[in-house]
Amino acid sequence: MKKKILITSALPYSNGPLHFGHIAGAYLPADCYARFERLRGKEVLYICGSDEYGVAITLSAEQAGKTPQEHSEGFHQINRELFKKLGIEFSHFSRTTSPEHPPIVQQFFQDLYDNGFIESHETNQLYSEADKRFLADRYVVGICPKCDYEEARGDECPKCGASFEATDLGNPRSKLTGASLTTRKTVHWFLRFDLFKEKLIPFLESRPWKSNVLAFARSYVDEVRPRSITRDLEWGVPVPLKEAEGKVFYVWFDAPIGYISATIEWAKQIGEPEKWKEYWLGAQTKYVQFIGKDNIPFHAVFFPAMIMGQNTPYKLVDELVANEFYLLEGKQFSKSEGWLLDLDDFFKRFHADQIRYTIAANAPETADSEFSWKDFQSRCNGELVGKFGNLINRVLVFIQNHVDGKIPQAHELEEEDHRFLNEISRLTQEIEESFASYRLRQATQLIMELASCGNAYFDKKTPWKEAKREGGRPVLETTMALCLEGLKSLACVSYPLIPDAAEKLWHLLGFSDSLADYTWKEILSLPLEAGKLLPKPYLLFQKIEDELIEEEIQKLQKMHEKAMERKEPPYAPLKKPIEFDDFCKLDFRVGRIEKAEKVPKSKKLLQLEVDIGLEKRTLLSGISQHYTPEELVGKKVIVVANLKPSKIMGIESQGMVLAGSLDHSLELVTLDDLPAGAEIS
Ligand code: MF3
Ligand code: ZN
Repeated sequence: MKKKILITSALPYSNGPLHFGHIAGAYLPADCYARFERLRGKEVLYICGSDEYGVAITLSAEQAGKTPQEHSEGFHQINRELFKKLGIEFSHFSRTTSPEHPPIVQQFFQDLYDNGFIESHETNQLYSEADKRFLADRYVVGICPKCDYEEARGDECPKCGASFEATDLGNPRSKLTGASLTTRKTVHWFLRFDLFKEKLIPFLESRPWKSNVLAFARSYVDEVRPRSITRDLEWGVPVPLKEAEGKVFYVWFDAPIGYISATIEWAKQIGEPEKWKEYWLGAQTKYVQFIGKDNIPFHAVFFPAMIMGQNTPYKLVDELVANEFYLLEGKQFSKSEGWLLDLDDFFKRFHADQIRYTIAANAPETADSEFSWKDFQSRCNGELVGKFGNLINRVLVFIQNHVDGKIPQAHELEEEDHRFLNEISRLTQEIEESFASYRLRQATQLIMELASCGNAYFDKKTPWKEAKREGGRPVLETTMALCLEGLKSLACVSYPLIPDAAEKLWHLLGFSDSLADYTWKEILSLPLEAGKLLPKPYLLFQKIEDELIEEEIQKLQKMHEKAMERKEPPYAPLKKPIEFDDFCKLDFRVGRIEKAEKVPKSKKLLQLEVDIGLEKRTLLSGISQHYTPEELVGKKVIVVANLKPSKIMGIESQGMVLAGSLDHSLELVTLDDLPAGAEIS
């Protein structure tokens, strides 16, 4: 078995505060896994850092009136702080603006270049005449070429996860102004991903990943094309070619290399500058990468291909753990819609282990899942307090009251005792297997099962009755000794998940050092010394009252309402330009509504009789939720008079009435003075 484990979590963009959605996807599962493998005695290196380049940053900085540096610096610190509060402990948290980073990125490019995987050509790129610059990636919005989502970005689609060139978008517009874009010629450098196809296929086939991850990656390899890896921007790692002055690398080229440069930086900082090689070049290392599902193409296909083109034999990812999305009360977390939690406030009221537990218990491993305040409360109260905390408290309090607060001696074991010990060993083993195979959700459920099993054992053995029964002392002592054995196992298996509570429990069991100083095996086989005095117990978890949860739900609603008031309504994208001649083909007339009535069985449709001067027309219009038939009679509206008739719900509609709409409002376009039949142009 491999001794060293390299773990990376997707480098978060430092362009906004992270939320629990990110934490559930790429960070908490990785931290639990890192803690677990360390506890198993493996040499674990857990690497992360801020992803600072790319237009996610320049765009937000521009909108906030800051330089990209200032903007990124702020969120780099905020996000680091959040990780700390959550107990997410990296071996090293770096950033892509670190001086270690550009030379490695440029070396990556050089190798690809020297090995014939790079070519340059003149291309048409989207250009904003108003801004006098090329717009790329997130500066551009348009229709996704894969799923037709209307708000896709210039390089990837947030809805289906597809990744493409900005010029592949339908109807591309500027994110800043909404204006249509033109194209201009500029030279860019392309990475010939297609040349790696033959290597990528067996690479993917040899990986034991979840089938949805593999299927998604495979569909990418099938259509893999050369991709531009350079941009006309100032913010980024410069392309090391004379002819490429003023160009930088595309952020998805430089960012994953950040995993390597961060490791090199770590090695230098600990004073062993060669040590990074043990992780990135060592055959004895297993490499596990944690990401959200929107990052699959880059980690399963593009970054591996970049590595395959290197002269240095960097490790390819062994395990790619890709999680689905984690929502907030049924909707995606969204800063602009005020649909998020104020995390400073959160940590004033709640403890990291409470949220770690809640996320893990419902981790989005195979399907999207969500945080809800009610679920949070019920897990904290029902499980952390009601099962886990309850077992610890009742056992330790009983020992204080009936065994002088000392660890009792176990005597002869009864069948029930054997059964309990067997359950402990079965469950701890299953928990170990779950953590080892990245099934955090299952590990969490089994940990609670272990606590329940302890509670059931305590109930069955009724030590409080033994305390009163003559000759009951040995049974009482055995029961309590075994209960402590159960608590010790519980401390061990829950450490990766709720480290703070696990350490506290460890201390309550009379240990003065840290649980993390031992290995999993050692803890489970460590005997508890009979006669040793235990510290006074206290409650590890507090109950969360209904009022507090109500308050939080209200707060979220208020924040959302406020944000929505501020938010601009969703403007529909502009349609493609048309010729003047096409416009002239339309025949608009003023029409006077003579009669209006509801179309039976239709929610929206009204049937109108309209006088357009030359003749009377029957028209159907979907306005019945906005107008009553009575208020329409007498109104003069604009009719598209030469639209071919069409039948709707059995009625022939002979034209169309114009109306404006935005969001949920609708208004007919009306005229006052012109008579019916007047032409409009
Ligand atoms: N910053 C990207 C995101 O948040 C992830 C980058 S992962 C890396 O989606 F591999 F490129 F570093
Ligand atoms: Zn899409």
